[in-house]
Amino acid sequence: MKRVGFVGWRGMVGSVLMQRMREENDFDAIEEPVFFTTSQAGQKGPDIGKDVPLLKDATDLEELKKMEVIVTCQGGDYTKQVFSGLRASGWNGYWIDAASTLRMADHTVIVLDPVNMTVIQDAISNGTKDFIGGNCTVSLMLMGLGGLFQNDLVEWMSAMTYQAASGAGARNMRELLSQMGALESGVHELLMDPASAILDIDRRVTDTMRSDDFPTDQFGVPLAGSLIPWIDVKLDNGQSKEEWKGQVETNKILGRSDNPVPIDGLCVRIGAMRSHSQALTIKLKTDVPLDEIESMLGEANDWSKVVPNERDVSAAELTPAKVTGTLEVPVGRLRKMNMGSKYLSAFTVGDQLLWGAAEPLRRMLMILLH
Ligand code: HSE
Repeated sequence: MKRVGFVGWRGMVGSVLMQRMREENDFDAIEEPVFFTTSQAGQKGPDIGKDVPLLKDATDLEELKKMEVIVTCQGGDYTKQVFSGLRASGWNGYWIDAASTLRMADHTVIVLDPVNMTVIQDAISNGTKDFIGGNCTVSLMLMGLGGLFQNDLVEWMSAMTYQAASGAGARNMRELLSQMGALESGVHELLMDPASAILDIDRRVTDTMRSDDFPTDQFGVPLAGSLIPWIDVKLDNGQSKEEWKGQVETNKILGRSDNPVPIDGLCVRIGAMRSHSQALTIKLKTDVPLDEIESMLGEANDWSKVVPNERDVSAAELTPAKVTGTLEVPVGRLRKMNMGSKYLSAFTVGDQLLWGAAEPLRRMLMILLH
C-alpha cells in the first residue's frame, strides 16, 4: 500500500502518533504519506524526513478517495461528518480511527494487537476495513491484565479508575495546571513561613477552590486538590458512558461479545496529567496460585511488567509519575483478598496517550503495510 492519508495529526493524540511514527521510522514504509487539514489546506505539510505534498482539505471526498489507508485522530465529529459519505462514494480503503464513534459498530474491529492479533488477522482475511482504537482505560487495563483474559481466568472484574486530565483533552490539562497554580499562589506566603498554621493554609486553599475566580471552564468544577467522580454522560442504568465501555469494549476486543465477561466499576477523574491508573477486583474462575498469576501477567506481552507487592517499589514504580511518556504498563498490588482465594486485587498504570490512544493505531497501520 502506497498512499496513506493522515487527518488530525496536529492535535494531542495526533502529535503523539507522529512522534512515535518518527521514532520507529514508520514513514519509511509509506511511499506517499498525505496530510489533510480541516483549516489550512494548501499550506506546507509536517517534517517527517521526506517530501510530502501540500496539505489537503480533510473534507474533500475526492482527495480522501485517492488514499489506500486513512488514519484519523481528528475526533468523533469528523468521523460522523465524513465516514459514511466516503464509504457511500464507493471508497474501499482501510479506515483507522482514534474516535469512539464507530467502535461498537458491527463492521469494525477495536485494535490492540498485543492482546487481539488473531481477531485483527481474522478480520483482515474476512475483508474488514474499519479498525478503531479502543477507550484508553480499557486498552490500558488489557495491556496490564491481558494474561488473565488470555488464559480465560476471569469470571468477573470490577475496575475503579483514577483517570488523568489528558483523557478530557489538551485544554483540560492546561486547566489542571492553572488550578494547581492558583491554589499555590493563594497560600504562597503562608507556605514560606514554617510557623504558619496548616489549618489556615487549608482554609485558604478551600476558599480559593470554591471562589468564582477559580479556573473551571473546562472541567466545570475543581480538580486540583479534589476529584471528579464522573466521566462522560449518564446512561439509563446509572452508569457513566466511560463505565459502560469497560464491559462492551473489553469483550469486543477479545472477540467474545457473545459470551461476555461481566465488567463494571466507577470511573473517576483525578489530578494526574496523562497516565490513567485503575484498581481492579477480579473474581477468578479457579484458585490459581499467585506466582502463576504473576508469570502469566508478566509474560502476556512485551510491555506488561509485574511490580512486587511491596510498599517502596509500588510507590516508586506503579505511578503516573514513573510511567508517563513510556510504553511500560506495570501491574502490581497483586494479592488474594479477604473474600476468598479466587478474589484477586491488582493495580495498573499506563500512559493514556501512548497505549491508551496512539500506539495501537500506528501498530495497526504497520500491520496493514507489512
Ligand atoms: N474517555 C477517556 C477519558 C479518554 O475521559 O479519560 C480516553 O478514551
